[in-house]
Amino acid sequence: MHTSLQPADAIPGLHVAIIMDGNGRWGTRRGLARTAGHRAGVEAVRRVAEAAPDLGIGALTLFAFSSDNWRRPREEVDGLMAILRAYLRFEIAKLVESGVRLTVIGRRDRLSARMRQDITRVERKTAGGQNLHLRLAIDYSARAAIAQAAARWTDDQSTEVLRRMIVNSPQVEVPDVDLLIRTSGEQRLSDFLLWESAYAELWFTETLWPDFAAEDLSAAVEHFHSRQRRFGGVPVAGVMEARG
Ligand code: IPE
Ligand code: IPE
Ligand code: MG
Repeated sequence: MHTSLQPADAIPGLHVAIIMDGNGRWGTRRGLARTAGHRAGVEAVRRVAEAAPDLGIGALTLFAFSSDNWRRPREEVDGLMAILRAYLRFEIAKLVESGVRLTVIGRRDRLSARMRQDITRVERKTAGGQNLHLRLAIDYSARAAIAQAAARWTDDQSTEVLRRMIVNSPQVEVPDVDLLIRTSGEQRLSDFLLWESAYAELWFTETLWPDFAAEDLSAAVEHFHSRQRRFGGVPVAGVMEARG
């Protein structure tokens, strides 16, 4: 069981999570296929991964494919999987060069064998990355992650054990989400990181994901720093006591 393993320390910094939404609309508004939007979305992934370390981000979790996205037309699902595979295969050198450690969360048993191999390979090759922990959520459902962990957890174990099972990151420690961003004007969670986002600051933007720039990430992080996090407590002399 994962819980017996000792994960590496988290890369220091904020944990930012992004629901990368609006690819389909980006394509459609240009008279293109929705998949064109997904392809353009990969460029935005590159931009945020590159910008993140300088903005004080240690972990970046990106929602790439939800467990409910299997409901989409077959061609779109196939297109998305091909785009994701290409990213996992061809990005390795750049990730290693930039010190980015990539891991994937979500179910793997419904992915193709080739995709599973690509995931294992990129995780292994980037395992030494110290500048950013980039997590891609593929076939991910937060409810499923929580249900699966709950089924294995026994109540003589601590909630910390439960948390670890839900987060399901056996290789490297991952803190709760500090800042959750959703693009494209939608303001919902769509079953993403429900446990981990309990005290996340939320940031919504009308910008469609393929148009999301490093400046947008920077603006969101700036907004985050202007927020006063209370974690259920009260402000102490204008400054919050750290939790724990
Ligand atoms: C987000 O963009 C990417 C995935 C869900 C894979 P969408 O494909 O949901 O784009 P819209 O929301 O239909 O515009
Ligand atoms: C959430 O976006 C999933 C991803 C961004 C991968 P959706 O576009 O699938 O979510 P809903 O259907 O609008 O809630
Ligand atoms: Mg959408």
